[in-house]
Amino acid sequence: MKHLHSAYEAAALLRDSELVAIPTETVYGLAADATNAEAVAKIYEAKQRPQFNPLIAHFASQEAAEREVEFTPLARKLAAAFWPGPLTLVLRATPDTRICALARAGLPTQAVRVPAHPLAQKLLREVAVPLVAPSANASGTLSPVSSAHVAKSLAGKIGWILEGGECSEGLESTIVDATGEQPVLLRAGTITATQIAEAAGYEVRLQLHAGEGEVKSPGQLLRHYAPRGGLRIGTQNPQSGEALLAFGAEIPPGFTHVLNLSERSDLREAAANLFSMLHQLEAYPIATMPVPEEGLGLAINDRLRRASSSL
Ligand code: TXA
Ligand code: MG
Repeated sequence: MKHLHSAYEAAALLRDSELVAIPTETVYGLAADATNAEAVAKIYEAKQRPQFNPLIAHFASQEAAEREVEFTPLARKLAAAFWPGPLTLVLRATPDTRICALARAGLPTQAVRVPAHPLAQKLLREVAVPLVAPSANASGTLSPVSSAHVAKSLAGKIGWILEGGECSEGLESTIVDATGEQPVLLRAGTITATQIAEAAGYEVRLQLHAGEGEVKSPGQLLRHYAPRGGLRIGTQNPQSGEALLAFGAEIPPGFTHVLNLSERSDLREAAANLFSMLHQLEAYPIATMPVPEEGLGLAINDRLRRASSSL
């Protein structure tokens, strides 16, 4: 793993679809260009998480974030009080957002934050695209607050880390759903519920996640992904009226509507296409072809099983 000392060098790599671990005031993040679905797919590969969790998009300013999500009056109050800083807001993605659907795991909402760390600020200004960045640790391990922690957790999985010293907060950002009038606390952090309530002028509702990337009642989040017309997984024989979500070069005959996750059976490409293709086929009942249970295929199959409500 190469240690970088220049935000310009990191920005060039990120624009070139590479992953770079970056410092923020909370914890180190594993960053990718949020507008590039294949780059975002690499994050899930590197973290070796068998699920797609929605990711936080990072911006240099609130103005930049306003292009990608719909700010509510509540969000404006919270941003005015705590940005730049360790607060993440969950807001509805704009219809023409450039952030790929994989970054929000197909959800209608996108988590956004403006970090205060000077080097993160410099990088975000230089790279000029939003960066998604989950904590830069392998799935199921502690969040990294120094570059040494990142190196220990992701050695051999990523090529670069932007050196930014120890993280001053050392704890992940507070996450607030600000889509409505009342702030909903989704993850506790250094900014407290009391501070949020004060800035919002509104009592805070608690809906804390069970653990990293988990939601308290799994069904709640996941219902969003179930296509309206239903979904059958791993099928070889079509039923009339079904659309096919294919994988690989050999497509069974009989389907009029076909989208192919990856003709060359590339799992990274398939992950990058998954959510946008599910959305495109939503008007039909969907049949999906088998995807190998390995690497990113684990997360793809997990999501397809949930969408088929067979989980
Ligand atoms: O401090 C932080 O927030 C760090 C630094 C790098 O910014 N990032 C971080 O990301 O902790 P991550 O991926 O480890 O945690 C993000 C959390 C997850 O629990 C995820 O479920 C939640 O944010 N989240 C993201 N998008 C969401 C959405 N649209 N709705 C609800 N929860 C969301
Ligand atoms: Mg994390």
